[in-house]
This record gives sequence, C-alpha cells and structure tokens, in this order.
Amino acid sequence: MSELVLTEREGAIAVVTLNRPDALNALSDALMEQLVSTLLELDRDEEVRCIVLAGNDKAFAAGADIAELARSSAIDLYYQRRIERWDAIRGLWTPLIAAVSGYCLGGGCELALACDLIVASESAKFGQPETGVGVLPGAGGTQRLTRAVGKALAMDVILSGRFLSADEALAAGLVARVVAEGEWLDEAKRVAQEIASKAPIATRLAKEAVDRAYEGPLQLGLEYERRLLYLAFASDDAKEGLTAFMEKRKPEFKGR
Ligand code: CAA
Repeated sequence: MSELVLTEREGAIAVVTLNRPDALNALSDALMEQLVSTLLELDRDEEVRCIVLAGNDKAFAAGADIAELARSSAIDLYYQRRIERWDAIRGLWTPLIAAVSGYCLGGGCELALACDLIVASESAKFGQPETGVGVLPGAGGTQRLTRAVGKALAMDVILSGRFLSADEALAAGLVARVVAEGEWLDEAKRVAQEIASKAPIATRLAKEAVDRAYEGPLQLGLEYERRLLYLAFASDDAKEGLTAFMEKRKPEFKGR
C-alpha cells in the first residue's frame, strides 16, 4: 500500500503529513484509514506529547474524494461506517494541531475543525463547497463550523460555498494563528513544542475540559472542569510544577 500518510518524530512531537498531493490530499477511504490508525498509534505512545497534522503548500485537503463519493450509494456509506471512523480523532488524548496552507475545503475543513487548534498560512482558504457537488458537509462541518464562527458566517460559507481567507478565518475564530507563507509548518511545530513542554496530564485534562465547553451546556462543563482539576491536582506533575515555581527553577514533568 502506498504511503498516503507520512509520520516524522521530532523529540516529543510527531508530524503527520497527508500525502496525496496529486489529488490535493482528497480524503479517500484508504487515506482516512491510514490517518486514523497512525493517529491512534501515536496517541498510545506516551513519549508523544503533541501531534501536528499537515498538508502541503498547495492544500491541507480539498475534501472527501469526489471520485469515490460518485461511485458510492447512500447505503454503501451507511454500511461502511466511514464517517464514524472520524470519531476516533476527537477521542485522541494527545493535543492535535492542524497546520494549514492552501485549500482546506469540505471534508478537509471538517478535519481541521476536528483538530484542537489550527495554525494557518496567509495563503489558506477555508470552505465548505459541498452543496456545489450536491451534498452537504457530513463530517461535522455544519455543527463545528457554526460553533466556531457563528450562524451568519457559517450559513454564508455553507450555503454559498464561498471561501474564507486566512485573515477572515482568524477574525471569525476558526483559526488560532496566521503566519506568512512558508512559515506555517515551522510555526505549527513551534506551538506543538510549546504544548509538549507543559505537564502532559494537565494538558490532556485541559483539552478535555475545553471540549466540554465547546460540546455541552455550561453548568455540566463547569462541573466537569472542577473534577478534572482535582484529578490534575493529584498528579506528581502538579506537585513538581507548583514546587518548581516556588523554587524558581524549571519543572521536570514526568507525565505521572
Ligand atoms: N476529490 C477528488 N479529487 C480531487 C478533489 C476532491 N475533493 N479535489 C481536487 N481533486 C483532484 C482533481 O480532480 C485534479 O486531479 P487530476 O489532475 O487528475 O484532474 C487534482 O486534484 C487537482 O485539482 P484541480 O485541477 O481541480 O486544481 P485547481 O487548482 O484547478 O482547483 C480546487 C482547486 C478549487 C480546490 C478544485 O480542485 C476543487 O474545487 N476541488 C473540489 C472541492 C470540493 O468540492 N470539496 C468538497 C468535496 S465533498 C466533501 O468533502 C463531502 C463531505 O464533507 C462529507
């Protein structure tokens, strides 16, 4: 099987690169299968503290593979449970950064939205053009884009198919950071190293708590956050972090 997904380790971070440049990284079934199994394997590795998911300069991903979709029936999609497989990405413990340059469309935009945060090049273009090919976003786009940017802009993007520039996406809250062309991958790696340098248990619990804010009602989220704080407080890393601060030294986190 050709490598549709490439993995590199750099210390405590891993960089996973979508590798179907000839099709603008269209998310074929085979690519998604490799991607999900790669991410799950990295997630099981305690040494990996943050993952960067990248495309190339021209495209993060231009959506689901339209040729494959055209050959499929509704019942094929239902039985093959292809989109259900994506749920594993949201279930990852390890923080996941989307590093986006160029086209980030359809299922590609939904994939970036499923990551914890997006670092984008000035050249990035975000869109949900599915209605242009007769379908609608089906991997979370109508829900996650709406929560990220609000109803008016989500309706505009999803119904008209217009692309958002990186600066528009930043202003709307879809993207965390925008950098000059040529800088997107290095910046995403810098953010990943920064995240990887923090206490790993606290980082994972904080990610889980933020997801609650994003995915559920406020009162439940507040309760959940409090419980996670108690859990983090019971870790050796919390003692180390607090003591190191008092002793004016750098903490040594062990993930315990
Ligand atoms: N699926 C399959 N192949 C794709 C693709 C896709 N989503 N997007 C691009 N490609 C292929 C093209 O067919 C072309 O292949 P060939 O060279 O073999 O002809 C190659 O990638 C390069 O693409 P273009 O020649 O079209 O490049 P361009 O620079 O002229 O245009 C583009 C770029 C505007 C992104 C255009 O490729 C495009 O509109 N792509 C489709 C975008 C889209 O509609 N995405 C939504 C898909 S549906 C979806 O995602 C469903 C879901 O949520 C569940």
